[in-house]
Amino acid sequence: MTTADPAAGERISVDEAAERWGRIAYAFERAFELTAGWIPTVPETLGKVALGHLLYLDALAVDAVRDRLAGLMRPPEGGGDEHPHAAYAAFTNEAVDLRDSADRAAVLRAWHADIRSAVHTYLDRTDHGWDEPSLRTARTVLGLLDDIDTRLASWGPAAKSPGAAGTSLLGLLERSGGCARPGTAGQDAIERRRSAPVRTPLRQPDLTVLPADEFPGGFRPEPGELMRYQLHTIAFTVEICAVEVCSQVIVRHPDIPWECKRDLARQVDDEARHFELLARRVTELGGLMGDYPIHHGIWDYFTLGTTPLEELCIQQVIQEGHGLDADVVFADLCRKDGDRVTARLFDFIGADEVGHVRIGTTWMRHFAGGDDDRVLSVFEDCYRRLEEHAFGSRFVVQEKERLLAGMTRAQVARARQTVLDTMARTLRKTPGAGGAPGTVTRATSGPGLAAC
Ligand SMILES: [Fe+2]
Ligand SMILES: [Fe+2]
Repeated sequence: MTTADPAAGERISVDEAAERWGRIAYAFERAFELTAGWIPTVPETLGKVALGHLLYLDALAVDAVRDRLAGLMRPPEGGGDEHPHAAYAAFTNEAVDLRDSADRAAVLRAWHADIRSAVHTYLDRTDHGWDEPSLRTARTVLGLLDDIDTRLASWGPAAKSPGAAGTSLLGLLERSGGCARPGTAGQDAIERRRSAPVRTPLRQPDLTVLPADEFPGGFRPEPGELMRYQLHTIAFTVEICAVEVCSQVIVRHPDIPWECKRDLARQVDDEARHFELLARRVTELGGLMGDYPIHHGIWDYFTLGTTPLEELCIQQVIQEGHGLDADVVFADLCRKDGDRVTARLFDFIGADEVGHVRIGTTWMRHFAGGDDDRVLSVFEDCYRRLEEHAFGSRFVVQEKERLLAGMTRAQVARARQTVLDTMARTLRKTPGAGGAPGTVTRATSGPGLAAC
């Protein structure tokens, strides 16, 4: 690898172009990895939402830069033989230990500002005719950095000063010279430290969090607040949990293909947006987020899986599949009630859910080595595990949408059996209380809630 002498004022070579983009790719990849690890351990809801969007924006930036790297004779799947310099790698490794939200927000802001300056330095040094594709890459990356700034600004701690740990890390970033500083040719790859998987996600202290099997405790919504209670329940127990679960798959399994991580990050972005849309509707209907108790039963179910195949099956295919049903049923019920705004909101959320189930069906096949029998056997085994923990759904199974998402007819039939079993279980427990399919009751909003 060669590095041009900046003092010579020469335009950069192909090798130096690749090295510079490689360092920028590394910076985005590391920000992506740390963001995934921080999502469940940031207590603030708006922090989870901001980081959820950030995760996908960083992933898009990685894709854009890797595409340019492939055009500079580097492998399309990564940075090839590019290595960060040791001080910058140390900065990213030490950032893993940050706990305080203000520290994390400050470091992410400085981290992305440093990448922005590395892109501008690149543009100053390259010949815009020889290297025109890099201009397009730079435009894409700078646009994504603008979006990242906006998302970070929406998170309260982003405006606060960091504490001692954050300040010392910002000093380390500055002393290291940032990701624009050249690496060392022939240097061994520097090991990437990553966040450890977490057992239980954090919630902000003003929320009332109940165990899923006790939800909603003694709370009973008044008839006039039923809709905003249901939307509040879905926003916290479904969307926020889905943000955390999908990002945690990335943390638990760092060696899964990049494309799978990118698909999961896209889903995290969707789920964060779903939370925002539902919160907005709760507010429009006169409520406040935090008005009602919540639980994280979807996270608890996710932890019954241990491999990527099982986790994708539980979350993306089973839970998201019943969530897809719920969105269609909710939209129809809202439309019948004359609430066209909420109906359309669920139409859009439901459209996203088809994509989430498709992520599950696609990657399950990948991790099962294309063996459809194995996919079905894991599917059945995961259903059995979930049902041993009171999993259920009362939402009518939507065959058309599920097939569109890549599920097989056998999987659809298995989902239908779960709904029938849930209805029978509810009737046995409370004769005459079957209720209308689609209403959020203890049976469907406790551990049995399956809408993502
Ligand atoms: Fe979803
Ligand atoms: Fe969702």
